[in-house]
Amino acid sequence: MAAKILDGKNLAAQLRRRIREHIAQRVAAGQRVPGLAVILVGQDPAAQIYVESKRRACAEVGIRSFAYDLPAEISEQQLLELVEELNVRPDVDGILVQLPLPRDISATSVIERIHPDKDVDGFHPYNVGRLAQRIPYLRPCTPRGVMRLIELSGTKLHGAEAVIVGASNIVGRPMALELLLAGCTVTVTHRFTRDLGAHVGRADIIVAAAGKPGLVKGEWIKPGAVVIDVGINRTGEGKLVGDVEFDTAAQRAGWITPVPGGVGPMTVATLLENTLHAAYKLHTLL
Ligand code: GUN
Repeated sequence: MAAKILDGKNLAAQLRRRIREHIAQRVAAGQRVPGLAVILVGQDPAAQIYVESKRRACAEVGIRSFAYDLPAEISEQQLLELVEELNVRPDVDGILVQLPLPRDISATSVIERIHPDKDVDGFHPYNVGRLAQRIPYLRPCTPRGVMRLIELSGTKLHGAEAVIVGASNIVGRPMALELLLAGCTVTVTHRFTRDLGAHVGRADIIVAAAGKPGLVKGEWIKPGAVVIDVGINRTGEGKLVGDVEFDTAAQRAGWITPVPGGVGPMTVATLLENTLHAAYKLHTLL
């Protein structure tokens, strides 16, 4: 294997240690304990696992998490009322609504109802717009975590060709904004893209976030490229795999993230950082 591994698990553990020390110092100096409300609607097994890992990470660093596990039958109106209640609670710095939501609840309406100062996922149109205008406020967690991993590789970002596979609101689109802000020339590919391999083949940095196992072929990768795999897909045998054909890609890439242990832990660590930022920089009057 030619590629070096970008170890998100290890980097995220370092970030959590730093966050824990920061909070301990603040609290020792008489400041508030930061609080994060984590809302899960329904019983989706993957969402349950993600939410559990976010709550566990909060406990590890000293953030108080408030758990709301709601039945899938809850109405959109009830969920909006809960968000409004949390928007004005002084002990809640961040509100996270795990996606996807059940079909009859509009994720757009729920996200728009979260106060932008408490939108620690960075999904609110205000926060996405701020990032688009180069004045970031609360930044989307996965793209921010990916930027940290690319920085860890030491790759020069100014002028680099970055190709994103997938154009979702959660990853692909805000990822493009982060890479653009960092000075990359950015291409976003999606389901209608005609020759995916040709785009991937000229990338210095590839971010795969389509949710399709093996979509990105190892043979497409330009030798020495940085390959970031955001995909987390479970195979028929129950194994977790990314969107990139790992073994063949690792023969050609300069750096590559593993799945699991790459981007996933960085998303959670960035969520904690955003909560800390909200508590101590944005909610100083709460
Ligand atoms: N579903 C998949 N990724 C995410 C995320 O980063 N935040 C939330 N709230 N839901 C998700």
